[in-house]
Amino acid sequence: MDSDDFRKYGHEVVEWIARYFETVEKYPVKSPVKPGDIKAQLPDNPPQKAESFEEFLKDFDNIVIPGITHWQSPDFFAYFPANNSFPSVLGEMLTAALGTQCMLWETSPAATELEEQMMIWFRQMTGLPEEFEGVIHDSASSATLAALITAREKATGFVSNSDGLSSTGKLRIYCSSHTHSSVEKGAGVAGIGRKNVVRVGVQNDFSIDPDSLRRAIDEDIKHGFVPCCVVATLGTTGVTAIDPLREVGEICREKNIWLHVDGALGGTALLLPEMRWMIDGIEYVDSIVINPHKWMFTNFDCTAYFVRDVASLIKTFEILPEYLKTRTRGAVNDYRDWGIPLGRRFRALKLWAVIRSFGVEGLQTKIRAHMRLAKTLEAWIIAEKNFEILAPVTLNTVCFRYLPGNISEVEANKLNEKLNHSLNDTGKIYLTHTTVNGKYALRMVTAQTNVSEDHVKKAWELIKTTALSVSAQSSTVNIH
Ligand SMILES: Cc1ncc(COP(=O)(O)O)c(C=O)c1O
Repeated sequence: MDSDDFRKYGHEVVEWIARYFETVEKYPVKSPVKPGDIKAQLPDNPPQKAESFEEFLKDFDNIVIPGITHWQSPDFFAYFPANNSFPSVLGEMLTAALGTQCMLWETSPAATELEEQMMIWFRQMTGLPEEFEGVIHDSASSATLAALITAREKATGFVSNSDGLSSTGKLRIYCSSHTHSSVEKGAGVAGIGRKNVVRVGVQNDFSIDPDSLRRAIDEDIKHGFVPCCVVATLGTTGVTAIDPLREVGEICREKNIWLHVDGALGGTALLLPEMRWMIDGIEYVDSIVINPHKWMFTNFDCTAYFVRDVASLIKTFEILPEYLKTRTRGAVNDYRDWGIPLGRRFRALKLWAVIRSFGVEGLQTKIRAHMRLAKTLEAWIIAEKNFEILAPVTLNTVCFRYLPGNISEVEANKLNEKLNHSLNDTGKIYLTHTTVNGKYALRMVTAQTNVSEDHVKKAWELIKTTALSVSAQSSTVNIH
């Protein structure tokens, strides 16, 4: 492809993207394809001769799009969002064009310094203290792994990287029963062991119970374990519970344990001054992760990881083969020392595009609107006779279930599971589930970039009518 062709197809692709956003609501939100459907349409072997880009674009439309679940549809209420926006897409295009590799300051000074400044902006925007320094990771899972490994190193006097874990005591990580699975995965990868993640109980609002945490740590110390890290969450995956940082932090300070905060979703709400109560106790926090690629309209991947003691982070991850030695070392940030991969994408560019295009006020307006929508939906559910709310609505997520008449818990779970699948099979909306105290809960997240009250209202009407028909079909349930 020469530059003239690139220009031609580039315009076509941009036109495709603009049209996609204008018409995204016409697609089934959740892809209806069956396993293997897409692969079956792909040639067994790669083409030996060059093919035209037209052919590629045709297959993209005919083969790929039917197998896409439309995360950018405002009718997408599933999981947590992976939002994007036009400025983000344009920023990403430029990143792809530069194809720069941001492992060292010298391998692209602008990429490093823009990342540095974006993390300063983001710190200001979220009200985090100045002592924190930030770096962009690919995902919250990677950032949390970096936190666990740094905590591991600190707890073992920085010997486990060099000597392995066999020479250290048995390390322990603590979090709540609602904490994201990335902590358990990270514990395994970090060599600490998944079994050494201690999941402590939660309070009525599903936030971690500090008394149980203290008891678990004391018990472990009595038995010779080495407490290494506590992970608190701002916005748990199931029900968006907010763990109390001050009470957890006081325990960590007293016992000298690293406190990592998973704000993958909820951290974005810190853009709103009225939500900063969530970081009461931030002085005890060692590290915090927030994903602009979830709720801040910046396409995947873009995770902000902030750490108080950068020296410990770098001491954990730096390794210096000859070919990476530079004359600027020590005078600049070489972000390859701030995490696991050597090669790094230029992710700061799209974040810059998003922050400048929305402005902090524009971002705040959207986030507030999403939170208001969750409250509106909650009010509709409360007002409806045969539905119940299953967890407090703190951010953008509403957990509820359909409960017609006098049915057993087992029947209620079956009915709500069926309702969830029936709703998703309509292609009109997509939502996922969780369990709350053993109850199957529908979980609706009102945080897609362009979601409006009309979309939520339409979804709610569909939920009510589908609930009635699912209930009527069910032979085991008497809804009257
Ligand atoms: C609370 C929480 N933490 C971490 C993650 C993992 O995020 P990532 O996909 O960026 O690794 C998720 C994913 O939804 C999450 O809900």
